[in-house]
Amino acid sequence: MNNSDKRKLLQVENLSISFSQYTRGTKKRIIRPIADLHVDIGEGEVVAVVGASGSGKSLLAHSVLGILPGNAVCGGRILYRGEELTDKRKEQLRGREISFIPQSVNYLDPLMRVGRQVQIGLDRSTAKAAQESLFARYGLKSGDGRLFPHELSGGMLRRVLFATSVREGVKLVIADEPTPGIHPQALSEILRQLKQFAIDGAGVMLITHDIISALEIADRVVVIKDGATVEIAEAAAFEGKGERLKTEYAQSLWRALPQNDFDLEFNGREADGQCL
Ligand SMILES: Nc1ncnc2c1ncn2[C@@H]1O[C@H](COP(=O)(O)OP(=O)(O)OP(=O)(O)O)[C@@H](O)[C@H]1O
Ligand SMILES: [Mg+2]
Repeated sequence: MNNSDKRKLLQVENLSISFSQYTRGTKKRIIRPIADLHVDIGEGEVVAVVGASGSGKSLLAHSVLGILPGNAVCGGRILYRGEELTDKRKEQLRGREISFIPQSVNYLDPLMRVGRQVQIGLDRSTAKAAQESLFARYGLKSGDGRLFPHELSGGMLRRVLFATSVREGVKLVIADEPTPGIHPQALSEILRQLKQFAIDGAGVMLITHDIISALEIADRVVVIKDGATVEIAEAAAFEGKGERLKTEYAQSLWRALPQNDFDLEFNGREADGQCL
């Protein structure tokens, strides 16, 4: 399917995010980590968002979900199904039509057994069975459901977090680094599920440092740098030496990957993507 044929689900246009901070005493300063972000996702499309650490990927996710801290001020526009995504709409859709897999496992409730957390939002009569089948799918044992978050390893917690996102009726999935520290088998199951969301008609934003895995399922890739979108490329353009990528920055990110010989020198300039 051609991109222009896909109905736009999410449009982030010219997004900026500033924070006001008190420095000494009553002195205030404004920092603006996000200056000019553009991302669009069509129905049935997987869009990977890549960029160095600190480039603004999580802030992008949080702004769409409406979970930025109170001192954040946003500019630009976010449209969902062609209509402005107001704070009220964000709240209504979050955890229902818009599903979120956060980067930090601290989003899990430390005082609730993980099985119960995965059952939230599932149909009551079938919740337990559905949760057990999700656990089996992501390599968790049935008994793990009775454990509290602090009793699970980091990789297990990531799989629990992912399981909380698999819901009927999800139209947009925002996955913020869903795969670090995950066993290869669970990684491929997570990628398969993200692709399945898209096959079922949802849009998927996959924020990741793992470009190679993302390319297995992504249709397009948004490259961000210092809070601005520098390139939006077809996933197929990430091949060879990256000749089909338009910007030097995207090419340098691609060439800096271990699979591409860690080519940190590009056009005589050191690539700044090595902290990906
Ligand atoms: N609450 C906040 N107040 C002030 N600055 C913030 C806040 N949250 C994030 N930032 C800054 O915004 C920038 C982008 O942060 P963000 O967490 O979005 O990066 P990221 O691309 O997700 O990084 P990583 O790949 O390490 O997860 C960083 O410079 C960060 O310090
Ligand atoms: Mg992040």
